[in-house]
Amino acid sequence: MKILLLGSGGREHALAWKIAQSPKVEKLFIAPGNAGTNQCGENVDMKADDFEGIGKFVLANGIDMVVVGPEDPLVKGIYDYFKTTESLKAIPVIGPSKEAAQLEGSKDFAKQFMMRHGIPTAAYQTFTANQLEEGLKFLETLEAPYVLKADGLCAGKGVLILPTLDEAKAELKEMLGGMFGQASARVVIEEFMSGIECSVFVLTDGKNYKILPEAKDYKRIGEGDTGLNTGGMGSVSPVPFATKEWMQMVEDRIIRPTVQGLAADGLDYKGFIFFGLINVKGQPKVIEYNCRMGDPETETVMLRIKSDLVDLLEGVAQGNLAERTIEFDDRSAVCVMLVSGGYPGHYEKGFPISGIENVQGSVVFHAGTKADAEGRVLTAGGRVIAVSSYGKDKAEALAKSFEGARKIEFEGRQFRRDIGADL
Ligand code: AMP
Ligand code: GLY
Repeated sequence: MKILLLGSGGREHALAWKIAQSPKVEKLFIAPGNAGTNQCGENVDMKADDFEGIGKFVLANGIDMVVVGPEDPLVKGIYDYFKTTESLKAIPVIGPSKEAAQLEGSKDFAKQFMMRHGIPTAAYQTFTANQLEEGLKFLETLEAPYVLKADGLCAGKGVLILPTLDEAKAELKEMLGGMFGQASARVVIEEFMSGIECSVFVLTDGKNYKILPEAKDYKRIGEGDTGLNTGGMGSVSPVPFATKEWMQMVEDRIIRPTVQGLAADGLDYKGFIFFGLINVKGQPKVIEYNCRMGDPETETVMLRIKSDLVDLLEGVAQGNLAERTIEFDDRSAVCVMLVSGGYPGHYEKGFPISGIENVQGSVVFHAGTKADAEGRVLTAGGRVIAVSSYGKDKAEALAKSFEGARKIEFEGRQFRRDIGADL
Protein backbone atom coordinates (compact mmCIF):
# COMPACT_ATOMS: atom_id res chain seq x y z
CA MET A 1 0.00 0.00 0.00
CA LYS A 2 1.16 3.55 -0.72
CA ILE A 3 0.32 6.06 1.98
CA LEU A 4 0.47 9.85 2.04
CA LEU A 5 0.72 11.38 5.52
CA LEU A 6 -0.02 15.10 5.89
CA GLY A 7 1.68 17.35 8.43
CA SER A 8 5.12 18.34 9.68
CA GLY A 9 5.33 18.05 13.46
CA GLY A 10 6.45 15.58 16.10
CA ARG A 11 3.05 13.92 15.86
CA GLU A 12 3.64 13.26 12.18
CA HIS A 13 7.15 11.89 12.73
CA ALA A 14 5.71 9.50 15.33
CA LEU A 15 2.89 8.46 12.97
CA ALA A 16 5.39 8.03 10.13
CA TRP A 17 7.66 5.93 12.38
CA LYS A 18 4.77 3.62 13.24
CA ILE A 19 3.29 3.45 9.72
CA ALA A 20 6.71 2.65 8.22
CA GLN A 21 6.96 -0.44 10.45
CA SER A 22 3.94 -2.01 8.79
CA PRO A 23 4.58 -4.85 6.36
CA LYS A 24 1.55 -3.61 4.45
CA VAL A 25 3.33 -0.41 3.45
CA GLU A 26 5.18 -0.33 0.16
CA LYS A 27 5.88 3.42 0.18
CA LEU A 28 5.23 6.29 2.59
CA PHE A 29 5.21 9.95 1.58
CA ILE A 30 5.01 12.79 4.09
CA ALA A 31 3.88 16.28 3.07
CA PRO A 32 5.57 18.51 3.95
CA GLY A 33 7.28 16.51 6.74
CA ASN A 34 10.44 17.58 8.57
CA ALA A 35 14.10 16.57 8.82
CA GLY A 36 13.08 13.44 10.74
CA THR A 37 10.16 12.12 8.71
CA ASN A 38 12.42 11.55 5.73
CA GLN A 39 14.02 8.69 7.69
CA CYS A 40 10.64 6.91 7.55
CA GLY A 41 9.63 7.76 4.00
CA GLU A 42 9.92 10.46 1.38
CA ASN A 43 9.12 14.08 2.11
CA VAL A 44 7.06 15.93 -0.46
CA ASP A 45 7.24 19.72 -0.64
CA MET A 46 3.53 20.39 -0.46
CA LYS A 47 1.37 22.18 2.11
CA ALA A 48 -1.04 20.03 4.12
CA ASP A 49 -3.96 22.26 3.09
CA ASP A 50 -3.17 22.49 -0.64
CA PHE A 51 -6.08 20.18 -1.57
CA GLU A 52 -5.61 20.48 -5.33
CA GLY A 53 -1.90 19.79 -5.13
CA ILE A 54 -2.53 16.86 -2.81
CA GLY A 55 -5.18 15.43 -5.13
CA LYS A 56 -2.84 15.64 -8.12
CA PHE A 57 0.01 14.03 -6.16
CA VAL A 58 -2.27 11.22 -4.98
CA LEU A 59 -3.34 10.39 -8.55
CA ALA A 60 0.14 10.73 -10.05
CA ASN A 61 1.70 8.46 -7.41
CA GLY A 62 -1.00 5.83 -7.00
CA ILE A 63 -1.59 6.66 -3.33
CA ASP A 64 -3.99 4.21 -1.63
CA MET A 65 -4.67 6.12 1.59
CA VAL A 66 -4.26 9.65 2.96
CA VAL A 67 -3.64 10.03 6.70
CA VAL A 68 -4.19 13.55 8.06
CA GLY A 69 -2.07 14.64 11.03
CA PRO A 70 -3.18 18.21 11.92
CA GLU A 71 -6.66 19.67 12.34
CA ASP A 72 -6.37 22.44 9.77
CA PRO A 73 -6.93 20.42 6.58
CA LEU A 74 -9.74 18.51 8.30
CA VAL A 75 -11.58 21.61 9.48
CA LYS A 76 -11.12 23.04 5.97
CA GLY A 77 -12.74 19.91 4.50
CA ILE A 78 -10.07 17.68 2.93
CA TYR A 79 -12.28 14.64 3.55
CA ASP A 80 -15.14 16.26 1.62
CA TYR A 81 -12.81 17.42 -1.16
CA PHE A 82 -11.83 13.81 -1.81
CA LYS A 83 -15.40 12.50 -1.47
CA THR A 84 -16.80 14.99 -3.95
CA THR A 85 -14.01 14.78 -6.55
CA GLU A 86 -14.81 12.00 -9.02
CA SER A 87 -11.20 10.88 -9.55
CA LEU A 88 -10.42 10.89 -5.79
CA LYS A 89 -13.55 9.61 -4.14
CA ALA A 90 -12.37 5.99 -3.95
CA ILE A 91 -9.24 6.98 -2.00
CA PRO A 92 -9.80 6.91 1.75
CA VAL A 93 -8.88 9.92 3.85
CA ILE A 94 -8.32 9.08 7.52
CA GLY A 95 -10.08 11.92 9.32
CA PRO A 96 -13.59 13.28 9.78
CA SER A 97 -15.73 15.20 7.31
CA LYS A 98 -15.70 19.00 7.50
CA GLU A 99 -18.98 19.02 9.40
CA ALA A 100 -17.82 16.41 11.94
CA ALA A 101 -14.48 18.22 12.35
CA GLN A 102 -16.53 21.03 13.92
CA LEU A 103 -16.17 18.99 17.11
CA GLU A 104 -12.77 20.69 17.21
CA GLY A 105 -13.42 23.64 14.88
CA SER A 106 -16.25 25.11 16.96
CA LYS A 107 -16.41 24.97 20.75
CA ASP A 108 -20.11 25.82 20.60
CA PHE A 109 -20.78 22.95 18.16
CA ALA A 110 -18.91 20.56 20.49
CA LYS A 111 -20.83 21.75 23.56
CA GLN A 112 -24.20 21.39 21.79
CA PHE A 113 -23.18 17.91 20.67
CA MET A 114 -22.28 16.89 24.24
CA MET A 115 -25.51 18.31 25.66
CA ARG A 116 -27.58 16.54 22.98
CA HIS A 117 -25.98 13.19 23.76
CA GLY A 118 -25.73 13.49 27.53
CA ILE A 119 -21.93 13.50 27.60
CA PRO A 120 -20.50 14.91 30.86
CA THR A 121 -18.85 18.32 30.43
CA ALA A 122 -18.81 21.76 32.09
CA ALA A 123 -22.05 23.78 32.10
CA TYR A 124 -21.85 26.64 29.57
CA GLN A 125 -23.50 29.37 27.54
CA THR A 126 -22.48 30.88 24.21
CA PHE A 127 -22.61 34.59 23.38
CA THR A 128 -22.18 36.69 20.23
CA ALA A 129 -21.09 40.35 20.01
CA ASN A 130 -24.66 41.64 20.18
CA GLN A 131 -25.21 39.60 23.36
CA LEU A 132 -22.38 41.23 25.31
CA GLU A 133 -24.71 42.47 28.08
CA GLU A 134 -26.18 38.98 28.56
CA GLY A 135 -22.65 37.55 28.63
CA LEU A 136 -21.55 39.99 31.32
CA LYS A 137 -24.65 39.12 33.39
CA PHE A 138 -23.98 35.41 32.95
CA LEU A 139 -20.44 35.87 34.28
CA GLU A 140 -21.92 37.38 37.46
CA THR A 141 -23.81 34.15 38.12
CA LEU A 142 -20.59 32.09 38.06
CA GLU A 143 -17.81 31.64 40.57
CA ALA A 144 -14.12 32.32 39.97
CA PRO A 145 -12.06 31.34 38.10
CA TYR A 146 -13.83 32.16 34.83
CA VAL A 147 -13.32 30.18 31.62
CA LEU A 148 -13.74 32.01 28.29
CA LYS A 149 -13.28 30.18 25.00
CA ALA A 150 -13.17 31.61 21.51
CA ASP A 151 -15.53 29.46 19.45
CA GLY A 152 -13.17 28.92 16.50
CA LEU A 153 -9.64 27.59 15.98
CA CYS A 154 -6.97 29.79 17.58
CA ALA A 155 -3.89 27.56 17.43
CA GLY A 156 -4.31 26.67 21.10
CA LYS A 157 -4.52 30.29 22.29
CA GLY A 158 -8.29 30.76 22.39
CA VAL A 159 -8.95 29.69 25.99
CA LEU A 160 -8.61 32.22 28.81
CA ILE A 161 -8.92 31.38 32.49
CA LEU A 162 -9.40 34.51 34.57
CA PRO A 163 -9.09 34.74 38.34
CA THR A 164 -11.44 37.70 38.88
CA LEU A 165 -14.84 38.83 37.64
CA ASP A 166 -13.46 42.19 36.49
CA GLU A 167 -10.78 40.55 34.34
CA ALA A 168 -13.31 38.10 32.94
CA LYS A 169 -15.65 40.93 31.96
CA ALA A 170 -12.83 42.91 30.35
CA GLU A 171 -11.63 39.88 28.38
CA LEU A 172 -15.14 38.99 27.25
CA LYS A 173 -15.47 42.51 25.80
CA GLU A 174 -12.10 42.12 24.05
CA MET A 175 -12.92 38.71 22.65
CA LEU A 176 -16.34 39.65 21.33
CA GLY A 177 -14.76 42.86 20.04
CA GLY A 178 -12.54 40.82 17.69
CA MET A 179 -9.48 39.86 19.74
CA PHE A 180 -9.20 36.58 17.80
CA GLY A 181 -10.93 37.87 14.68
CA GLN A 182 -13.76 35.71 13.36
CA ALA A 183 -12.75 32.88 15.76
CA SER A 184 -14.01 34.89 18.74
CA ALA A 185 -17.16 36.23 17.05
CA ARG A 186 -18.79 33.76 19.43
CA VAL A 187 -17.49 33.05 22.92
CA VAL A 188 -18.30 30.05 25.10
CA ILE A 189 -18.32 30.82 28.83
CA GLU A 190 -18.15 27.72 30.95
CA GLU A 191 -17.95 26.45 34.47
CA PHE A 192 -14.39 25.89 35.75
CA MET A 193 -13.55 22.25 36.45
CA SER A 194 -10.82 21.29 38.84
CA GLY A 195 -8.84 18.06 38.42
CA ILE A 196 -6.03 16.30 36.55
CA GLU A 197 -6.25 16.08 32.78
CA CYS A 198 -5.84 13.01 30.62
CA SER A 199 -5.94 12.59 26.84
CA VAL A 200 -7.85 9.58 25.52
CA PHE A 201 -7.80 8.59 21.86
CA VAL A 202 -9.92 6.33 19.71
CA LEU A 203 -9.91 5.29 16.10
CA THR A 204 -13.39 4.96 14.64
CA ASP A 205 -14.84 3.81 11.34
CA GLY A 206 -18.08 5.60 12.20
CA LYS A 207 -19.70 2.56 13.87
CA ASN A 208 -16.99 0.74 15.75
CA TYR A 209 -14.06 2.10 17.70
CA LYS A 210 -10.76 0.99 19.17
CA ILE A 211 -9.41 2.74 22.24
CA LEU A 212 -5.71 3.62 21.97
CA PRO A 213 -3.33 4.00 24.93
CA GLU A 214 -4.13 7.12 26.98
CA ALA A 215 -1.55 9.82 27.76
CA LYS A 216 -1.06 12.94 29.81
CA ASP A 217 0.57 15.99 28.31
CA TYR A 218 2.31 18.93 29.99
CA LYS A 219 1.10 22.21 28.52
CA ARG A 220 2.83 24.95 30.49
CA ILE A 221 6.33 26.13 29.62
CA GLY A 222 7.55 26.18 33.22
CA GLU A 223 8.30 23.46 35.74
CA GLY A 224 5.56 22.90 38.29
CA ASP A 225 2.99 23.82 35.58
CA THR A 226 3.81 27.52 35.60
CA GLY A 227 4.04 30.13 32.88
CA LEU A 228 2.46 30.31 29.45
CA ASN A 229 0.68 27.54 27.61
CA THR A 230 2.65 25.77 24.88
CA GLY A 231 1.79 23.18 22.28
CA GLY A 232 2.99 20.60 24.83
CA MET A 233 6.30 20.05 26.63
CA GLY A 234 6.14 16.30 27.12
CA SER A 235 3.84 13.36 27.67
CA VAL A 236 3.51 10.19 29.65
CA SER A 237 1.63 6.93 28.99
CA PRO A 238 0.06 5.09 30.74
CA VAL A 239 -1.62 7.54 33.14
CA PRO A 240 -1.82 6.04 36.66
CA PHE A 241 -5.29 7.37 37.53
CA ALA A 242 -6.71 6.01 34.27
CA THR A 243 -7.37 2.64 35.88
CA LYS A 244 -9.44 -0.10 34.26
CA GLU A 245 -12.49 1.11 36.21
CA TRP A 246 -11.96 4.76 35.25
CA MET A 247 -11.45 3.88 31.59
CA GLN A 248 -14.65 1.81 31.72
CA MET A 249 -16.52 4.94 32.88
CA VAL A 250 -14.86 6.88 30.06
CA GLU A 251 -15.96 4.29 27.53
CA ASP A 252 -19.53 4.01 28.84
CA ARG A 253 -20.22 7.69 29.46
CA ILE A 254 -18.07 9.41 26.86
CA ILE A 255 -16.62 7.28 24.07
CA ARG A 256 -19.62 5.13 23.15
CA PRO A 257 -22.13 8.01 23.37
CA THR A 258 -19.81 10.11 21.19
CA VAL A 259 -19.43 7.51 18.44
CA GLN A 260 -23.15 6.69 18.56
CA GLY A 261 -23.99 10.40 18.66
CA LEU A 262 -21.94 11.07 15.53
CA ALA A 263 -23.81 8.32 13.71
CA ALA A 264 -27.21 9.47 15.03
CA ASP A 265 -26.49 13.04 13.88
CA GLY A 266 -25.41 11.82 10.43
CA LEU A 267 -21.85 13.10 10.92
CA ASP A 268 -19.37 11.22 8.75
CA TYR A 269 -16.36 10.38 10.92
CA LYS A 270 -13.64 7.92 9.99
CA GLY A 271 -10.53 8.78 11.89
CA PHE A 272 -8.98 9.61 15.23
CA ILE A 273 -11.00 11.24 18.01
CA PHE A 274 -9.07 12.93 20.80
CA PHE A 275 -10.98 13.29 24.07
CA GLY A 276 -9.43 15.95 26.30
CA LEU A 277 -10.68 14.75 29.68
CA ILE A 278 -10.45 15.95 33.24
CA ASN A 279 -10.84 13.80 36.32
CA VAL A 280 -13.20 15.71 38.61
CA LYS A 281 -13.44 13.93 41.98
CA GLY A 282 -13.04 10.56 40.25
CA GLN A 283 -15.54 11.35 37.48
CA PRO A 284 -14.33 11.84 33.89
CA LYS A 285 -15.61 14.93 32.08
CA VAL A 286 -14.86 16.28 28.62
CA ILE A 287 -12.89 19.53 28.34
CA GLU A 288 -12.63 19.40 24.58
CA TYR A 289 -12.68 17.23 21.50
CA ASN A 290 -9.99 17.29 18.84
CA CYS A 291 -10.46 15.66 15.47
CA ARG A 292 -6.89 14.32 15.27
CA MET A 293 -4.18 12.85 17.45
CA GLY A 294 -2.53 14.94 20.15
CA ASP A 295 0.97 16.35 20.00
CA PRO A 296 3.11 15.41 22.00
CA GLU A 297 0.82 12.55 23.10
CA THR A 298 1.33 10.72 19.79
CA GLU A 299 5.05 10.56 20.56
CA THR A 300 4.24 8.22 23.46
CA VAL A 301 0.98 6.62 22.25
CA MET A 302 2.63 5.23 19.10
CA LEU A 303 5.31 3.56 21.22
CA ARG A 304 2.61 1.77 23.18
CA ILE A 305 0.69 0.32 20.24
CA LYS A 306 2.04 -3.15 19.52
CA SER A 307 -0.32 -3.90 16.66
CA ASP A 308 0.09 -2.82 13.06
CA LEU A 309 -1.36 0.70 12.88
CA VAL A 310 -1.89 0.40 9.13
CA ASP A 311 -4.08 -2.67 9.68
CA LEU A 312 -6.23 -0.54 12.02
CA LEU A 313 -6.33 2.35 9.53
CA GLU A 314 -7.43 -0.11 6.85
CA GLY A 315 -10.22 -1.20 9.18
CA VAL A 316 -11.27 2.45 9.49
CA ALA A 317 -11.25 2.94 5.71
CA GLN A 318 -13.12 -0.29 5.00
CA GLY A 319 -15.63 0.08 7.83
CA ASN A 320 -14.60 -3.22 9.43
CA LEU A 321 -12.57 -1.97 12.37
CA ALA A 322 -14.43 -4.43 14.62
CA GLU A 323 -12.58 -7.29 12.91
CA ARG A 324 -9.15 -5.83 13.72
CA THR A 325 -7.29 -6.13 16.99
CA ILE A 326 -5.28 -3.65 18.99
CA GLU A 327 -2.67 -4.75 21.49
CA PHE A 328 -0.83 -2.43 23.85
CA ASP A 329 2.80 -2.58 24.90
CA ASP A 330 2.81 -2.96 28.70
CA ARG A 331 5.90 -0.82 29.12
CA SER A 332 5.75 2.85 30.04
CA ALA A 333 6.51 5.46 27.42
CA VAL A 334 7.41 9.10 27.97
CA CYS A 335 8.41 11.99 25.78
CA VAL A 336 10.42 15.09 26.67
CA MET A 337 10.15 18.01 24.27
CA LEU A 338 13.15 20.21 23.49
CA VAL A 339 12.01 23.72 22.59
CA SER A 340 13.57 26.92 21.27
CA GLY A 341 14.72 29.66 23.66
CA GLY A 342 11.91 32.17 24.17
CA TYR A 343 9.15 29.77 23.14
CA PRO A 344 6.11 30.06 23.43
CA GLY A 345 6.88 33.77 22.99
CA HIS A 346 9.24 35.10 20.34
CA TYR A 347 12.08 32.76 19.35
CA GLU A 348 14.69 32.53 16.59
CA LYS A 349 14.98 29.68 14.10
CA GLY A 350 17.76 28.25 11.99
CA PHE A 351 20.18 27.08 14.71
CA PRO A 352 22.15 23.90 13.98
CA ILE A 353 21.14 20.89 16.11
CA SER A 354 23.90 18.58 17.27
CA GLY A 355 24.20 15.36 19.20
CA ILE A 356 21.14 13.50 17.92
CA GLU A 357 23.40 10.62 16.84
CA ASN A 358 24.67 10.25 20.44
CA VAL A 359 21.24 9.41 21.81
CA GLN A 360 20.91 5.73 22.55
CA GLY A 361 17.94 3.72 23.76
CA SER A 362 15.39 6.45 22.88
CA VAL A 363 13.41 7.32 19.80
CA VAL A 364 14.17 10.85 18.64
CA PHE A 365 11.16 12.40 16.93
CA HIS A 366 11.67 15.63 15.03
CA ALA A 367 9.09 18.41 15.39
CA GLY A 368 10.20 21.87 14.16
CA THR A 369 13.32 20.87 12.23
CA LYS A 370 14.50 21.17 8.66
CA ALA A 371 17.57 20.09 6.73
CA ASP A 372 19.65 22.73 4.94
CA ALA A 373 21.29 22.27 1.53
CA GLU A 374 24.26 20.45 3.12
CA GLY A 375 21.97 18.14 5.04
CA ARG A 376 22.60 19.77 8.42
CA VAL A 377 19.57 19.69 10.72
CA LEU A 378 18.38 23.14 11.82
CA THR A 379 15.72 24.35 14.23
CA ALA A 380 12.59 25.48 12.38
CA GLY A 381 9.94 25.92 15.05
CA GLY A 382 9.15 26.42 18.73
CA ARG A 383 8.96 22.76 19.57
CA VAL A 384 12.03 21.18 18.02
CA ILE A 385 12.69 17.58 19.10
CA ALA A 386 10.74 15.03 21.16
CA VAL A 387 12.87 12.44 22.93
CA SER A 388 10.66 9.39 23.51
CA SER A 389 11.64 6.36 25.54
CA TYR A 390 10.34 3.08 26.84
CA GLY A 391 10.94 1.89 30.39
CA LYS A 392 9.77 -0.92 32.62
CA ASP A 393 8.16 1.92 34.54
CA LYS A 394 7.77 5.67 34.15
CA ALA A 395 10.92 6.43 36.14
CA GLU A 396 13.12 4.29 33.90
CA ALA A 397 11.59 5.78 30.74
CA LEU A 398 12.05 9.31 32.08
CA ALA A 399 15.68 8.70 33.01
CA LYS A 400 16.39 7.63 29.43
CA SER A 401 14.55 10.58 27.89
CA PHE A 402 16.30 13.12 30.11
CA GLU A 403 19.67 11.55 29.31
CA GLY A 404 18.86 11.79 25.60
CA ALA A 405 17.56 15.34 25.98
CA ARG A 406 20.83 16.48 27.57
CA LYS A 407 22.85 15.09 24.64
CA ILE A 408 21.00 17.08 21.99
CA GLU A 409 22.09 20.68 21.73
CA PHE A 410 21.12 23.83 19.91
CA GLU A 411 21.28 27.47 20.87
CA GLY A 412 18.64 28.36 23.47
CA ARG A 413 17.45 24.77 23.93
CA GLN A 414 15.19 24.27 26.92
CA PHE A 415 13.10 21.42 28.30
CA ARG A 416 11.07 20.68 31.40
CA ARG A 417 12.81 18.46 33.90
CA ASP A 418 9.62 17.61 35.77
CA ILE A 419 7.66 15.72 33.10
CA GLY A 420 5.69 12.95 34.83
CA ALA A 421 6.72 14.14 38.30
CA ASP A 422 3.13 14.98 39.35
CA LEU A 423 1.76 11.48 38.72
P1 AMP B 1 -9.09 23.58 25.46
O1 AMP B 1 -8.47 24.30 24.28
O2 AMP B 1 -10.57 23.59 25.48
O3 AMP B 1 -8.48 22.23 25.66
O4 AMP B 1 -8.59 24.36 26.74
C1 AMP B 1 -7.22 24.54 27.00
C2 AMP B 1 -6.92 24.22 28.43
O5 AMP B 1 -7.66 25.09 29.30
C3 AMP B 1 -7.33 22.82 28.87
O6 AMP B 1 -6.38 21.86 28.55
C4 AMP B 1 -7.50 23.01 30.35
O7 AMP B 1 -6.26 22.99 31.01
C5 AMP B 1 -8.05 24.40 30.45
N1 AMP B 1 -9.52 24.37 30.52
C6 AMP B 1 -10.38 24.45 29.50
N2 AMP B 1 -11.65 24.39 29.91
C7 AMP B 1 -11.62 24.30 31.26
C8 AMP B 1 -12.61 24.21 32.27
N3 AMP B 1 -13.92 24.25 31.99
N4 AMP B 1 -12.20 24.09 33.54
C9 AMP B 1 -10.89 24.08 33.83
N5 AMP B 1 -9.90 24.17 32.94
C10 AMP B 1 -10.25 24.27 31.64
N1 GLY C 1 -1.45 18.03 23.29
C1 GLY C 1 -2.67 18.70 23.05
C2 GLY C 1 -3.04 18.83 21.64
O1 GLY C 1 -2.48 18.21 20.76
O2 GLY C 1 -3.95 19.59 21.34
